[in-house]
Amino acid sequence: MKKKEIEKKYKGYIENLRKYNLSYFDKSDPLVSDSDYDKLKRDILDLEKQYKYLKSNNSPSILIGHKPSKNFKKLPHRVPMLSLGNAFSEEDLINFEKKITNFLSKNEGYEISYCAEPKIDGISASLTYVNGVLEKGLSRGDGKEGEDITRNLSTIKDIPKKILSKNFPEEIDIRGEVFIQNSDFENLKDKFANPRNAASGSLRQKNPEDTKKIPLKFIAYTFGFEKGLNADNQFDYLKKLDSWGFKTNPLNKLISGVKNLIKNYNEIEKKRSNLDFDIDGVVYKVNDFNLQKRLGYVANAPRWAVAHKFSSNKAVSEIKDIEIQIGRTGALTPVAKIKPINIGGVQVSNATLHNEDEIIRKDIRIGDTVTVERAGDVIPHVISVDILKRKNTSKKFIFPKKCPCGYETIKDFNKITKKFDAVRRCPDRGFECNRIAKEKLKHFVSKEAFNIDGFGKKIVEKFWELNLIKLPQDIFKLDYGKIEKLDGWGKLSADNLRYSVDEKKQISLERFIYSLGIRHIGLENAKLLSRYFGSFQKLKNLPKKNNYNDLLNIDGIGETQLVSIKNFFSKDINLKILNELDKVLNIKNAKAVNTRGLLKDKSFLVTGKLNNISRAEVKSLIEENSGTTVSSVSKKLNYLITGEKPTKKKINSAKALKIKIIDQDEFLKMLNKTS
Ligand code: IVH
Repeated sequence: MKKKEIEKKYKGYIENLRKYNLSYFDKSDPLVSDSDYDKLKRDILDLEKQYKYLKSNNSPSILIGHKPSKNFKKLPHRVPMLSLGNAFSEEDLINFEKKITNFLSKNEGYEISYCAEPKIDGISASLTYVNGVLEKGLSRGDGKEGEDITRNLSTIKDIPKKILSKNFPEEIDIRGEVFIQNSDFENLKDKFANPRNAASGSLRQKNPEDTKKIPLKFIAYTFGFEKGLNADNQFDYLKKLDSWGFKTNPLNKLISGVKNLIKNYNEIEKKRSNLDFDIDGVVYKVNDFNLQKRLGYVANAPRWAVAHKFSSNKAVSEIKDIEIQIGRTGALTPVAKIKPINIGGVQVSNATLHNEDEIIRKDIRIGDTVTVERAGDVIPHVISVDILKRKNTSKKFIFPKKCPCGYETIKDFNKITKKFDAVRRCPDRGFECNRIAKEKLKHFVSKEAFNIDGFGKKIVEKFWELNLIKLPQDIFKLDYGKIEKLDGWGKLSADNLRYSVDEKKQISLERFIYSLGIRHIGLENAKLLSRYFGSFQKLKNLPKKNNYNDLLNIDGIGETQLVSIKNFFSKDINLKILNELDKVLNIKNAKAVNTRGLLKDKSFLVTGKLNNISRAEVKSLIEENSGTTVSSVSKKLNYLITGEKPTKKKINSAKALKIKIIDQDEFLKMLNKTS
C-alpha cells in the first residue's frame, strides 16, 4: 500500500471509532458488537505499530477511560504454554499409562508416580522472575504468545513481587491459575456469567486499578523457562513454590497406580461442592522431571500429563427430530434435535447419536425421552432412552442410505478388525458434495489451520450460499466490493476481513498441510509430513514422482494415512486447488529442527528390542539431534542399530550395502550418553 492509501485507511478507522465511541458513551447506543469494536481498535493499533508516522488524538493508544480495553501488547512465551489431553474414564487413564510405559519401553507393571493436582477452572498466567523480582506477567494467549498483563497481575496479593529465598532460581517463569473464589463471585453475579468469566474480565481491564478492586487469587503449579531451578520432580517443585511464598493447592497429592488415581479423583469429586473455587477435574503429571523430559510432547500437549475431567453433567429431555449432518470426511452423523435444556450452565438443543448402529443398539426413536450428557468440551450426546416413557406416537428413524447430494453412501471395510465401519460416508469426490465442501472450507479457515480472524463457520455458510466461495482459493480472491454491500456489512467490516485474509497469505507448510483436511492427517501427521517434504513444491510433486510408498519411511505414517494421501492426490480438483493456492499464498518451508545436532545428516533404523528405551523415544532422540529415521534398509541408511533378536534379513542387507551396524551402547555414545 502507498503512504497515502495507508493514511486514508487509518483516518477511516479513526473516524469510525470516534463515531462508535460517541454513540456508545454519550448516547448509550452501541453501533457495533463488542467484538467488532475491539477488532477496530486492534486494527488501528496494528497499523500504528507498522507505520510509525500514523498518529491521532482519537487513537485508542492515547484515549483512556473508555470501555475496558483488550488491547495489550503481545509478547512471546520463551517456552510455549501448552494445553492438556483429556481423560474421562478409567479406560482412558489405563490407555494414558500404557502409552507412557510403551514409550519408555517398560513392562506393564512398571510403577509411575504421579502428582495429582485439582484442576482449577480459571485463567492461566506466566510470571517471569529475574533475580527474584517479578519482571513480567503474560496471559496464555495462543500458547506461543501472550498478552502483557503485568500491571494487572501485580495487583494480585497472592503473587509475590520480590522473592528473597536463597534457593530461588536466577530466572524462572512461574505458571499457575488466576481465579475468583465462589464466595467473592457472589458480589459479581450481576456482571459476569460465572467465576471464570469474572476472573478473565477483571484480569484484562485496561486500568489495573479496576483489576485491583476484584479479589483475584493465584495458585502456582508449573513453570516455563528456568535457569537455576534445583528440583528433580513436580512434587518437590510444588513444595519449593510454597517455601518461596506462592500459594499451591492443598489437595495436591503424590499417587501411583490407576486404581489409586481413581480413588483420589472420587474423593475430590465428593469434596467439589464444598470447595470455595471451581474445579473441573484432576491433572495427573508424571512426577519425575527426567521421565517428563524423555516423554516429551505430542502436538500441543505433553505426553506426561493428562486432565481427568469430572464426569459430565446429565439432563433429561425429549427428542423432537433427528437430522443428518455431513462432516468434512463425508461421515453421516445423526443428530437429535432435543427440547432445549440447561446442562451445567449451557443451553443444549442438539445431541449427537454417533451413528446408525448406535441408534439401533439403543433403539432411539423420535419422541423418546432421553438422558443427555455433556462432558467437558465434547459435543453433548444421548446416553440412554427411558423406555417406560415411550409414547405411542414415537417414530423409528430410518437411516438414509443416500447423502443429500444424491450419492449412495458407503461403509468402509476395516482390514484390521475385518468388519465394516459403523459410520456411513458420502464418498469424497473432491468438492462435489456441497455439504462436504462447505465443511472442508470451515476446516480450512479454522483456528489450527489458516486461522482467519473473523472468518468463522457462519461466514463460510453465507459466502457459500452467495457463491462467493466454492473452493479454498476463492477465499483469497474475494470480491470485497460485493461483500461491502451485503446486509450487515459495510466498508469497515469488509476492510477488516480483507486485512485478516491478507494477513494469512503467509503460512507454514505444516499448517497448510493440516488445512487441506486430508482424512487421517491431523496436526501431528501434518507436522511429520511437513518435516519430510520440507517445501510445498516437494509436496506438490508427489503425484508426479509417484513415490508414495516412501512416505512409509516416516515413522508415524502408516498404510491408513498413505491410502488417504493417495486418494487426495488422485483427484484432479485437489491438484488444481494446490496450483491455485500456490499462486496466491506464500507457503513457508518447514523449519529444520536443530540442524546442527550431533546426528546431522545421519539416518538410522532400529532392528530388535532395545533395552529400556522404546522405538518412539529413539526416534525423538534422533530427531532432536538432527538425525532422521527410515523404515527399511537401503542405500539411504547410515546406521542400523541392533537390539535383542534383530531381523536377520535387515542385518544381511545392511552388510551387503556396507552400512554401519551398531548396538545400543554405540548409538548412545554418539549422543554422549550411556544407557
Ligand atoms: S499444567 C503442560 N496444572 O488447565 C502443562 N494446568 O488444559 C499444562 N490448569 O491451561 C498446564 N490446573 O489453565 C496444569 N494443576 C494444573 C492446572 C492446570 C488448572 C489449567 C491451565 C491449563 C489447562 C490445560
